[in-house]
Amino acid sequence: MAYVIGVDCGTSGTKTVLFDEKGTVIASMTIEYPMYQPKNGYAEQEPADWANAMINTIKGVLAKSGVAAEEVKGVGISGQMHGLVMLDKDNNVLRRSIIWCDQRTAAEVEEMNRKLGREKLIEITANPALTGWTAAKILWVKNNEPDIYEKCRHILLPKDYLRFILTGEYATEVSDASGMQLLDVPNRCWSREVCDALGIDMSWLGKVYESCEVTGQVTAEMAEKTGLKAGTIVVGGAGDNAAAAVGTGVAVDGKAFTTIGTSGVVFAHTSNISIDPKGRVHTCCAAVPGSWHVMGVTQGAGLSLKWFRDNFCNAEKETAKYMGVDEYYLMDKQAESVPVGANRLLYLPYLMGERTPHLDPDARGVFFGLSAMHTKKEMLRAVMEGVSYSLRDCVEVFREMNINVSDMMACGGGGSSPLWRSMLADLYNCPVKTASSKEGPALGVALLSMVGAGIYSSVPEACAAVVKTDKIQEPNAENVPEYEKYYQLYREIYPALKAQFAKLAALD
Ligand code: XUL
Repeated sequence: MAYVIGVDCGTSGTKTVLFDEKGTVIASMTIEYPMYQPKNGYAEQEPADWANAMINTIKGVLAKSGVAAEEVKGVGISGQMHGLVMLDKDNNVLRRSIIWCDQRTAAEVEEMNRKLGREKLIEITANPALTGWTAAKILWVKNNEPDIYEKCRHILLPKDYLRFILTGEYATEVSDASGMQLLDVPNRCWSREVCDALGIDMSWLGKVYESCEVTGQVTAEMAEKTGLKAGTIVVGGAGDNAAAAVGTGVAVDGKAFTTIGTSGVVFAHTSNISIDPKGRVHTCCAAVPGSWHVMGVTQGAGLSLKWFRDNFCNAEKETAKYMGVDEYYLMDKQAESVPVGANRLLYLPYLMGERTPHLDPDARGVFFGLSAMHTKKEMLRAVMEGVSYSLRDCVEVFREMNINVSDMMACGGGGSSPLWRSMLADLYNCPVKTASSKEGPALGVALLSMVGAGIYSSVPEACAAVVKTDKIQEPNAENVPEYEKYYQLYREIYPALKAQFAKLAALD
């Protein structure tokens, strides 16, 4: 039996899973780390935390499983997209990584539009200039930390920094590179025109591969540290969403998934490149060679519920510990006891600004309709419903773009909540399925490494052989029109507050 390893460098932690060639989980381990928010709208992480977490989780799964290093045929790495890692000439990390949900770059987005023009940017990179994407972050460092910028010699994404640690190669792959805004997305290569216009040295960028191609081998030093065999192949891997797509079998037209992790994403596969002229959803290269995907993103999905848990749910945390259950399970149970609409309480999940459909870094969270009769459980349900409304916003954009979605999967931490899945099914008014494996991104990159190792001949073939559907949540005919009323009201709140969000952001 052959084995492979999938590593997923997420925002709350890095998870490493050892799979056999049938996709069965043999061992899994996660190590968490902090996110730093030095200012309102800023978000940073320490690349060394990711590297230590990767090394120790790989070591951990090998030790737990007893699988011999020679039997591990490949490694795939997935990760949070858009984060900026800068290295100097000696490969030292120059500053903390500015990560995907950081919103400090409004001025740099304007600079990009001025230097290249909005239309040109969309034509080449398939997306408008975005505050959270890597190019704007690079310009921010150039404009605000010139001493650091001067020392920079290599720019890597979070998972590509881990590849560098494992293999010594400066490389990336098309799905994650699409989120840097320096890639010619239709042609799947770096864009000299964009790099030159923004003054970014192309030699700082790694070599671009397809996601299932071999990008390097585990070095002797890393073999020593992780327990892997020196020479084990490391494939391109994928950004976390493109990886989750492979791990849930979303590798052909008509298939889509919704993930509720720290961010929330609605993702659809497309074999023809499709771009929203208003830029409300992203278009990126898929991890399946020769195809693309569109995705709508909610910045604060699982993040909203985690924020609520960490600030208001200490009692649930204690009870969960005492009962030996997950605290989110208890929170779900409380939210379930409240009717659709949370007794007329709505929540806008814009804690970290919002992308789809507003593209507004200044937007912030709102509870709308608070009454003295409301308790924590209404607020809890409102948070889950508000995140679901924002995901429905993504589906609405897909519908406008005529992207046909006939098959919707749910994944991520939130996707494992039956209540959250039922909200999605009712709001999309379509069945929502789960994959039998819960390992979305880690399984996705493990499948890519199986293709790289020659175990399967293509990504769709690997998906068809391994990914199986599990539960199906049908929409509830009574709830659909109820949710619809609240969703229509939800849609009216942001436009009514847009100007006030900007004023709030301008206050010192
Ligand atoms: C996608 C995005 C997030 C991150 C974090 O554009 O920013 O989904 O990948 O997981």
